[in-house]
Amino acid sequence: MDSILVRGNGPLSGEISIAGAKNAALTLMPATLLTDEPLTLTNVPRLSDIKTTNELLSSLGTEVAVMQDGQIIVLDTHEITNHTAHYDIVRKMRASILVLGPMLAREGYAVVSLPGGCAIGARPVDLHLKGLEAMGAKIDLKEGYIHATAKNGLKGATIEFPFASVGATENILMAATLAKGTTVIKNAAREPEIVDLADCLRKMGAHISGDGSSVITIEGVEKLHGTTHPVVTDRIELGTYMLAPVIAGGEVELLGGRIDLLSAFCEKLDEAGISVTETKRGLKVASRNGRITGVNVTTEPFPGFPTDLQAQMMAALCTADGTSVLEETIFENRFMHAPELIRMGANIDVHGGHATVTGVTKLKGAPVMATDLRASVSLILAGLAATGETIVSRVYHLDRGYEQLVRKLAACGADIERISA
Ligand code: UD1
Repeated sequence: MDSILVRGNGPLSGEISIAGAKNAALTLMPATLLTDEPLTLTNVPRLSDIKTTNELLSSLGTEVAVMQDGQIIVLDTHEITNHTAHYDIVRKMRASILVLGPMLAREGYAVVSLPGGCAIGARPVDLHLKGLEAMGAKIDLKEGYIHATAKNGLKGATIEFPFASVGATENILMAATLAKGTTVIKNAAREPEIVDLADCLRKMGAHISGDGSSVITIEGVEKLHGTTHPVVTDRIELGTYMLAPVIAGGEVELLGGRIDLLSAFCEKLDEAGISVTETKRGLKVASRNGRITGVNVTTEPFPGFPTDLQAQMMAALCTADGTSVLEETIFENRFMHAPELIRMGANIDVHGGHATVTGVTKLKGAPVMATDLRASVSLILAGLAATGETIVSRVYHLDRGYEQLVRKLAACGADIERISA
């Protein structure tokens, strides 16, 4: 198994192009199942999760054409030839559940493996299923598979989620585009990836309003058609690389970066003493003289501080001046990076959904293990400023969500390399 070797070597300087959002692509791609015409996606990030989604869609009958080294994907589902999303693909990637709503809406039935447990918590799919049931679907769980049927098609309904779920909002939004009548999603998730999905669906002929707010209204239509759509900027990749100069020192320009995608995160950086400047090409982040100030962070649904940046922020706060408390409210088991950061000399005390970080002046390189996607990148960031060598193993987690990570950081002067096993 490959690993990544990082040696802390002082300030960074340069620019990093931010890719299209993994989480947007993973919901835009299944939208192909809603139409028999081709859907072309551009600005697609080159990641293993995208390859897994291509594999999943191909297994259902989609013809997949990958162009420009993977940055353009044409998905043509003129016919759905198989209605079962098998466990061997779904277990690799929970977002596979997003084929359920579109396939059910177009075909009247779909069978999708229940996603297994996940390292960052239980992550059930009950809200996805309850939403589809409210639209008239019959759901049976048999031998680890969700069997969903709607013989006479799905019907519009008012669905109020008890809390905002990104995936459930996306599944119901896609399903509702082809349902009979009007669907209203209350307490909908407001993430930019949902607005991106709604934009694409509107280009395909869907009638959607209110996306980006907590109430989304969808008037079902008979048929959707093909379109071309660029994937929105990856705000999590953006936030991750914004923290690189904060941790390692120096100045980095993030091409394609936008403050509106990360306002709560930028406010926290400001509180910690880091200013973010808008440039013609994106955002610029420069380190400050001396240590950043410890800040308290609570993860929340958009527009709050993203759970997907909590691990990276913790890495930055390990060497802050003072104490920081990070509260994780979205996932119950999302501090697995803490023991690894402690191995590097961090002072962190995890108690339930909180982690108290008391800043130390310097971290020390160590062999560490990646446990999930965002945890693994937090260890790379920590390694950029640690003394000596940090070796991060289980790099396949990183390949799921960061395209060309080694190349992007090395171009800014980081001493980082991938070691093939
Ligand atoms: C998406 C993102 C993930 C991000 C998360 C929160 C993708 C592919 N993944 O995940 O990177 O960390 O949003 O911003 O876009 N829940 C239920 N029942 C459900 C669905 C969710 O209880 O049916 C719970 C989850 O366990 C979690 C919370 O709701 O505690 C929020 O999860 P959700 O917003 O659905 O996250 P995902 O869509 O899985």
